[in-house]
Amino acid sequence: MPACFLPASMASKVVQPLLSSSRTSPVINLGRLSKDPATRALAIQDIARACREQGCFQVVNHGVSKSIMKGALEAASEFFNLSPEHKEIFASTDIRRPIRYDTSSRDGISKARSFLKHYANPLENWVQYWPVHPPTYRKKMGDYAVEIQRVSMQLMDAILQGLGLEPLYLQEKLENGIQFLALNNYPQFSHRGDKVGLAPHSDYGFLTILLQSSPGLEVMPHDDNTWTAVPAIPGALHVHIGDHLEVLSNGHLKSLVHRAVLNPDEARISIASIHGLTMDEKVRCAEELVDEEHPEMYRESSFQDFLDFLPSNINNYKRFVESLKTDRA
Ligand code: OGA
Ligand code: NI
Repeated sequence: MPACFLPASMASKVVQPLLSSSRTSPVINLGRLSKDPATRALAIQDIARACREQGCFQVVNHGVSKSIMKGALEAASEFFNLSPEHKEIFASTDIRRPIRYDTSSRDGISKARSFLKHYANPLENWVQYWPVHPPTYRKKMGDYAVEIQRVSMQLMDAILQGLGLEPLYLQEKLENGIQFLALNNYPQFSHRGDKVGLAPHSDYGFLTILLQSSPGLEVMPHDDNTWTAVPAIPGALHVHIGDHLEVLSNGHLKSLVHRAVLNPDEARISIASIHGLTMDEKVRCAEELVDEEHPEMYRESSFQDFLDFLPSNINNYKRFVESLKTDRA
């Protein structure tokens, strides 16, 4: 695999929408997936409903230890606290780099954030590009990435079964698929500035799994048109649907529009882990979900196609998934 990819953002943009409300997303106990078949079936149903109705949920009892989650946030925070020369080694505007640091809003959606983005799966291919400062970065972030990749496999298995697809559908491709980590660093909200740290968008891949140090993520559930703050439940991980799962599901599931607002009490760090197929693998509507009543609603596309789409989309506020819709959608 050529070691030369990194998007300015894994995201495509949407027009700025409405106000805030305070509904919460469902919290799902992931431990139920490894219990008896009846319990597992109920957990799959809960996940399917959350995906369909909200496009997101939180998971607890997911098996990622608190110390690994804490370690990842510490590694991220120590990286962002380094002096500029340590971070600027990774500064680049080339979206196809394997690791990239930036502080500006060149991609049009990052506002007051700085970020570090790099790939993580398979770890042995990518860890060589990761920072050596702070010295614990590779170990702590690596441990976290491996655990989150495992959770993503469990979640995809449940979600695909919830769509009525075979167990093990795409499993091998997902195991070898992309895991892309976006570490976001947001300043504390100041009354002089903008309250939005990351403008509304949906993510590129199948799933995003997000860890936040404090509240700031806001989502726009499908059955609503208002911003909903996602509470930072200690130990929980937030999960949402990306553009390529909308495509794979032939529109049964929709990718989630979300944004980040600055926290009035403290600076905030989030780690988004985005999961998809490999760079060149095309994602298309699952055949099983296409029939006369449900014609194919999206054109096939790969991560490479997404990278090609990004520069053409800098100022026109279109989401990637919108660009894939066929005239039957
Ligand atoms: C992202 C993202 C949200 C957050 O990195 O794509 O949506 O809370 N992050 O930082
Ligand atoms: Ni996002």
